[in-house]
Amino acid sequence: MSRLCRQDDGKTRRGNFELARLSTMRATTTALFGALAASVTLLSNPVGAAPFSVLPKPHPLVIWHGLGDSAHSEGIESFMLQLKEAFPGLYVHSVTQDQSSDSEDRRQGFFGHVNDQVQMACDQLASIDELRNGFDAIGFSQGGQFLRAYVQRCNTPKVRNLVTFGSQHMGIADLPACGPTDLLCRVAEAALRGGIYTDYAQSHLVTAQYYRNPKDPRAFASYLEKNDFIKDINNEGQEINTTYADNLASLENFVMLMFDKDTTVEPKQSSWFASYPVRNESDSLKEGNLDEPTPLRQSSIYTDDRIGLKRLDRRGSLIMELCHGLHMQIDPACQLKVFGKYVGTPSAGLDSSLATWIDHTWRWTLYNTTGLRVEQTAGLIITQSFVFLGLFVVVRLLIFTLIRGVGAVSRKRMADERVETARGPIHLS
Ligand SMILES: *[C@@H]1O[C@H](CO)[C@@H](O)[C@H](O)[C@H]1NC(C)=O
Ligand SMILES: *[C@@H]1O[C@H](CO)[C@@H](O)[C@H](O)[C@H]1NC(C)=O
Ligand SMILES: *[C@@H]1O[C@H](CO)[C@@H](O)[C@H](O)[C@H]1NC(C)=O
Repeated sequence: MSRLCRQDDGKTRRGNFELARLSTMRATTTALFGALAASVTLLSNPVGAAPFSVLPKPHPLVIWHGLGDSAHSEGIESFMLQLKEAFPGLYVHSVTQDQSSDSEDRRQGFFGHVNDQVQMACDQLASIDELRNGFDAIGFSQGGQFLRAYVQRCNTPKVRNLVTFGSQHMGIADLPACGPTDLLCRVAEAALRGGIYTDYAQSHLVTAQYYRNPKDPRAFASYLEKNDFIKDINNEGQEINTTYADNLASLENFVMLMFDKDTTVEPKQSSWFASYPVRNESDSLKEGNLDEPTPLRQSSIYTDDRIGLKRLDRRGSLIMELCHGLHMQIDPACQLKVFGKYVGTPSAGLDSSLATWIDHTWRWTLYNTTGLRVEQTAGLIITQSFVFLGLFVVVRLLIFTLIRGVGAVSRKRMADERVETARGPIHLS
């Protein structure tokens, strides 16, 4: 740039300017073709037996089962099989606490320290090669808040869309009833009778670590004192961990499904981050109905944006859907709200902070101007390609303007220098 300013001869300078413009043009054209070639390569990733398929591979998927279930139970296995049939080439991993024993994995759904289990999942997912470029995640029931903890605490590799079915994001105000033959559940239930906020329960009994009852002032005080899982991931303590909020807000979409006839989760609206208002020793006549859960958008976790939910919502990335049925009764209508929309869709193939920034900005703009989510428009790939093309044009314009600006400045300085260094009197006309 300074070289350009010192040029004495106007012609040479303009020549250089033209050259610079030409080489920028050439560079941008090369970049465009490069980007095109890259997308073609990315889009023609081999899928299954079709080596030159133009179909992009679906984004990998991780699931975390619920309480009483295990990573490779019949139900989970058949679910994974159905998904693989619906989305050829889909890689699915089911989080397990014990690779060698499925019954031990099931036991750990009831017993264990949730923070350790989440850390275990962090290590497990980081070690899987197929997931290294990110994945979508589905959490069933308590697996939903555990996967959210993964996103907030670890998120390496990164989660794209987080989907939770009937999860207890704001905890449970009552313990779920056990099935008549569920022995493990009964053992856990008996252990919980010894107290929910004992040190033992808070580090050994899973449901105790997301038990949160704002209706009972004393229990709630103990919760605030003793709990180190749901209170922590909801940034409900004195200190707010901004990493949690940034990580959750970095999701492309956070999809929360609630079951309208859910009687297992108390209150069922916990699946949408609602909870009963915190009751106060002194008054039972506080404003509003204390028996109605406060909706998310009126809760401080949202209004103070403690964990990034407000940021997600602003760009249309916080999705609350209702499914009809009892807890975890995922019927076809419920499936359609998720599959092929947030799960099983191709990966953008780009994994950089710039791509994330573009994606988020695009979502925000689209949602703010039209009220539409990217997933509701003609197709993710099309809209995203459109954004990249738009960005390309903008960058191109910026470079052009910049070069013109530099040219103008240097011309002006040159004229000034001539005035200053000219010998003899200056004649003003
Ligand atoms: C916030 O969470 C991250 C991820 O778990 C952790 O590394 C960090 O130490 C936490 N920061 C604070 C202030 O607790
Ligand atoms: C009860 O609630 C009021 C306001 O809602 C608050 O000022 C007061 O400190 C609370 N009392 C207790 C014991 O928490
Ligand atoms: C949408 O954009 C306008 C103008 O930029 C802004 O004032 C408004 O707050 C935005 N809406 C949301 C929901 O963020």
